[in-house]
Amino acid sequence: MKDRIHSYIESLIKERDLLFQEMESYASLHNVPIMELSGIEVLLQLLRMQEPKRILEIGTAIGYSAMRMAQALPETEIVTIERDDERYDLAIQNITKSEYASQINILKGDALDIYQEVKDFGPYDAIFIDAAKGQYMKFFELYTPLLSTNGYVYTDNVLFKGLVTEETIESKRIRNLVGKIKKYNEWLMNHDHYLTTIVPVGDGLAISKKMSE
Ligand SMILES: C[S@@+](CC[C@H](N)C(=O)[O-])C[C@H]1O[C@@H](n2cnc3c(N)ncnc32)[C@H](O)[C@@H]1O
Repeated sequence: MKDRIHSYIESLIKERDLLFQEMESYASLHNVPIMELSGIEVLLQLLRMQEPKRILEIGTAIGYSAMRMAQALPETEIVTIERDDERYDLAIQNITKSEYASQINILKGDALDIYQEVKDFGPYDAIFIDAAKGQYMKFFELYTPLLSTNGYVYTDNVLFKGLVTEETIESKRIRNLVGKIKKYNEWLMNHDHYLTTIVPVGDGLAISKKMSE
């Protein structure tokens, strides 16, 4: 979804610390889908405004977004889940050698299988969904009961490189995935207990506010 406006905004973003720059280079070299720069900057700013005590992140990859959230919010605890062995190991390495180790707990496993473990660390004031795109609705339904009153859910990739607007998509796999994302977006926008807005930054960020009961 990178256009000239996104590139312009990214050109204005201050250089990150060396550790983050190295992680960005690693991700680009090894095709690790970390959050796009303009997207994460918006997410971090929203989190600074929200000041959550505890964040649940679904989809750690190599620990980039978890560490950036930890840096932006020094008082916040982050629980993050990764199912891929290699990425989990890299995340552990990156986080352990950083100054954010005491703020971040990485849980290994499929987010759909380790609810009890995740629950033991909760409740959460913010949930950040950034894992398998086809399962967003399941992640949302499973983990939002752990969200505190007035909490927020942030979902990345909801515009999936702009593909949600394409009429014809040749690849069946991508077509199915886009179908699931569109279904999630429509479901989320019409949710009775959440107020959602979609912001076209990065790969598309949905911001959902839990309404008071
Ligand atoms: C987009 S990447 C996460 C990027 C990371 N949030 C960042 O911006 O630095 C998605 C990650 O979620 C992991 N993942 C996908 N489905 C998962 C699941 N069901 N449970 C746990 N991890 C999952 C993938 O292995 C992948 O590393």
